[in-house]
Amino acid sequence: MCCSLRFVLVSIFTLLQPIITLRIATSLAWIEHTPQPYAIKNFYKGSTAATLTSGGVANLASNPQDFELAANAETQGLKQYANHKNVRLIYIVCEVAYRIVADKRKGITKLADLKGKKIGTFSGTSASVFVHNMMATVGVKDSEYTIKSGNVCMKAPCASDTLPSQLKAGSIDAFGIWEPAVELGADAIGSNAILFQNASIYREVYSLYSTTDALNNPAKRKDIVEFVRALNKTLDVFANKPKENGVYDYVAKEVGMDAPVVESVWVDHKWSGTWGNDLIDFIVEEDKYLAGTDKRSATSRKDLEKFLDRSIIDEL
Ligand SMILES: *[C@@H]1O[C@H](CO)[C@@H](O)[C@H](O)[C@H]1NC(C)=O
Ligand SMILES: *[C@@H]1O[C@H](CO)[C@@H](O)[C@H](O)[C@H]1NC(C)=O
Repeated sequence: MCCSLRFVLVSIFTLLQPIITLRIATSLAWIEHTPQPYAIKNFYKGSTAATLTSGGVANLASNPQDFELAANAETQGLKQYANHKNVRLIYIVCEVAYRIVADKRKGITKLADLKGKKIGTFSGTSASVFVHNMMATVGVKDSEYTIKSGNVCMKAPCASDTLPSQLKAGSIDAFGIWEPAVELGADAIGSNAILFQNASIYREVYSLYSTTDALNNPAKRKDIVEFVRALNKTLDVFANKPKENGVYDYVAKEVGMDAPVVESVWVDHKWSGTWGNDLIDFIVEEDKYLAGTDKRSATSRKDLEKFLDRSIIDEL
């Protein structure tokens, strides 16, 4: 015998309940995601609770019945949009000008010197698009350097399979990825580090996504607007008053970093919210590149214009 009648009845009742939360799929590991828990804790006033689940835009695209929102880099958004035209980018949480850190002892004094070198990154992510874009601007083709994989590190001391440790050990010559791994890699080799960054060549556009399914449901839409409103209040705190509000400590605790490292990479994170007219050109170009690496056809500009949906921002 396992269950009391009361337990069975409660269980059945629970199963029959309609879904009563705003469900958000997001990686819980990175700095970029932290405005979401902060917004839920401090500002969100929706009619239902908001819950964060580990995941991303792929979960939203494949299971629109299980999630109302997701957060991820634009790279993952574009990959999903190619096959799921119901996905919409509705808000920008954060834009991050990624950096490449290289070891000067390997004869690297400018970006073009990375030709023929071993560069650490994650294939298939925003980081590999970043490395590609950076190298392309100095005329170095993908085939003219070697991509090496490795793990990221959030806090020193970094394990030996992480990119900062591989740079220190000399098994890679450089690496490019999201923070704080680059900061920790630069720390690991001290004055031998040289950094490359250019936000107009590549920046991660870490965005909030929804689906037309959720956006066309009036009850869900109301809570989505409330959540974005809460995020917008959060971005004001993150951008303008982080120190006064203990944000460096908050973020450090959320993602397992040291607060001084959070503070030193803060400048690389732009808490944008909305976007300018240049974003469409940026994603059209990026989608062309991703279409090649993913062996699919590029999404048309007309469809990408639909992907960028300002209608929730307009309701704030
Ligand atoms: C960034 O890249 C753009 C486009 O290639 C270039 O015009 C600009 O000078 C670069 N900025 C820096 C600081 O290198
Ligand atoms: C968000 O809040 C700021 C104030 O911090 C405001 O200027 C802005 O227009 C709001 N809306 C969006 C979409 O960012």
